[in-house]
Amino acid sequence: MITVKGLSKKLPDGTLLLKDISFQVEKGEFVALFGESGVGKTVLLRCVNGLTAPDSGEVIINGDGEPQRVNGKRGKELRRIRRRIGMIFQGSNLVKRLSVLENVMTGRLGWISPARSLLYGFTDKEVERALEALAKVGVRHLAFRRAETLSGGEMQRVAIARAILQEPYLLLADEPVASLDPKNAEVVLDYLRPLTEQMAIIGVFHHLDIVRKYCTRAIGIKDGVVAYDGKPDVPPHLLSAVYGSRPPVWPVAAGQLA
Ligand SMILES: Nc1ncnc2c1ncn2[C@@H]1O[C@H](COP(=O)(O)OP(=O)(O)OP(=O)(O)O)[C@@H](O)[C@H]1O
Ligand SMILES: [Mg+2]
Repeated sequence: MITVKGLSKKLPDGTLLLKDISFQVEKGEFVALFGESGVGKTVLLRCVNGLTAPDSGEVIINGDGEPQRVNGKRGKELRRIRRRIGMIFQGSNLVKRLSVLENVMTGRLGWISPARSLLYGFTDKEVERALEALAKVGVRHLAFRRAETLSGGEMQRVAIARAILQEPYLLLADEPVASLDPKNAEVVLDYLRPLTEQMAIIGVFHHLDIVRKYCTRAIGIKDGVVAYDGKPDVPPHLLSAVYGSRPPVWPVAAGQLA
């Protein structure tokens, strides 16, 4: 599904943030990406979906056809590949002046012709699907509100509905439940987990109990390399190996989602 091979990325000041990252994720997997703040998780997800160019290495996506390289692609070709990679950004990234429904509909933009998209010419069927997706994450009632009036957790759920509507092969979710209370985090995670029947999900999570309950695998990043790749129930000594000598961030909310 997605293969990352020997990926490296330098920061503008020359620091080598990601040195040599390799992993492969298949449909059916729900992978938790973890590691200290600033280790490069967001940058890695941006490299995977082609928003940021790595300095070396490869990102290859294999959906229902020939494997395709994501990095090094531009324009129309990159757009075609990226429409099958859904991304939920850290902090949601909604278009604030648009309504919730319009924001969700933008998930379909990669699928319709530029002329239709200019006019936002979505069909009734597409609108119905957007409303269904909003209902699944518990925010159907907000469909006609301007996005800027939403709370952080509501925005996050709208962003999830938008990504799902894109019908991705691969869903990248950067801290998708970070601003949700435990109950709504469960609603969202219960919605995401079965989606792995159709796609692979890579999500950044900071709570071990969430990872244990929902994920099928965990990948830990430290010092620019994969320091852990295995069971979601990460053994404590390996957890501190990823988080270094500082106290692990996990499990901050022990008991949450028990
Ligand atoms: N465009 C940029 N220019 C300069 N530095 C950047 C840029 N993007 C990211 N960085 C730096 O790279 C490092 C990794 O950033 P990244 O956002 O990937 O961290 P992260 O692991 O996602 O952290 P967090 O858990 O806090 O979200 C940080 O020190 C960040 O300041
Ligand atoms: Mg981040």
